[in-house]
Amino acid sequence: MAYLTITLGTLLILSTPNLLIHAKTTPIAPGPTPAPLNLTGVLEKGGQYTTFMRLLKETQVGQQVQSQLNNSYDGLTIFAPTDNAFSNLKAGTLNGLNAQEQVSLILYHVLPRYYSQVTFETASNPVRTQASGSNGVYAVNITSSTNQVNVSTGIVNTPVQTVLYSDFPLAVYSVDKVLLPYDLFGPKPPASAPEPADHSPKKPTKKSPAADAPSEEAVASPSTASPSERTTGWRTFVVGMGLLVFYCMGSHL
Ligand SMILES: *[C@@H]1O[C@H](CO)[C@@H](O)[C@H](O)[C@H]1NC(C)=O
Ligand SMILES: *[C@@H]1O[C@H](CO)[C@@H](O)[C@H](O)[C@H]1NC(C)=O
Ligand SMILES: *[C@@H]1O[C@H](CO)[C@@H](O)[C@H](O)[C@H]1NC(C)=O
Ligand SMILES: *[C@@H]1O[C@H](CO)[C@@H](O)[C@H](O)[C@H]1NC(C)=O
Repeated sequence: MAYLTITLGTLLILSTPNLLIHAKTTPIAPGPTPAPLNLTGVLEKGGQYTTFMRLLKETQVGQQVQSQLNNSYDGLTIFAPTDNAFSNLKAGTLNGLNAQEQVSLILYHVLPRYYSQVTFETASNPVRTQASGSNGVYAVNITSSTNQVNVSTGIVNTPVQTVLYSDFPLAVYSVDKVLLPYDLFGPKPPASAPEPADHSPKKPTKKSPAADAPSEEAVASPSTASPSERTTGWRTFVVGMGLLVFYCMGSHL
């Protein structure tokens, strides 16, 4: 019955499939001891990633990344949006997400593989990220030409800018836009399960004349999402957690 004492926070971390896998892998430390990798240090040095650093901390994704770096065979690639990228988001974009969705948003900026600028060209689309939801793993598309690499979410397309760090197992690239996952910010698919009758239809996104960039229109939808939609998301999350606990208990019986 110790499972019942598992805190929600722990479950939140455990709910990421990649973590479950990594938690089971035994760390092996071959070769010479590498210099301790420190994502926070890399971002701090960059000087314009304070919002991303705060979110890494708040969502505990930073800790996950740090421990995955210790255990990963494939390494990690991180897209670090600048502070400008965050301040260019439509007001309420972040606050419109529940806790689990914020975790997903940040995990979406983490690829479970090390990509150097050269190996980006070998990436086969869609490229899996660390984020996932009820529809499976969230992906990005990566396109490259001789001197440019773009990352695209289906909502946002942005060049991969400055290399902040690139030495296996960690690559950190600066991006000028927050990568908004299509699964969170795209049009909501019709509900697959029967919904309560009070599920109000989504209001059409108000088109303001000032909203010239398509990405800005797209990000408007979560902030205008009705409370019932958000409640549904939370409910799904709670049910998911319940199933996870059930599964964990079952597999230990
Ligand atoms: C990483 O660097 C930051 C700032 O440079 C420091 O506060 C933190 O303790 C370091 N963490 C580790 C695990 O070395
Ligand atoms: C990663 O490994 C280093 C050195 O082996 C250790 O000091 C650190 O606590 C580990 N960090 C995590 C998050 O596992
Ligand atoms: C990257 O995106 C820009 C527009 O943001 C576009 O002009 C360019 O052709 C794209 N490059 C690649 C390699 O996809
Ligand atoms: C990736 O590209 C494929 C094919 O063009 C497209 O169907 C898919 O929606 C794209 N996914 C993202 C995340 O951009």
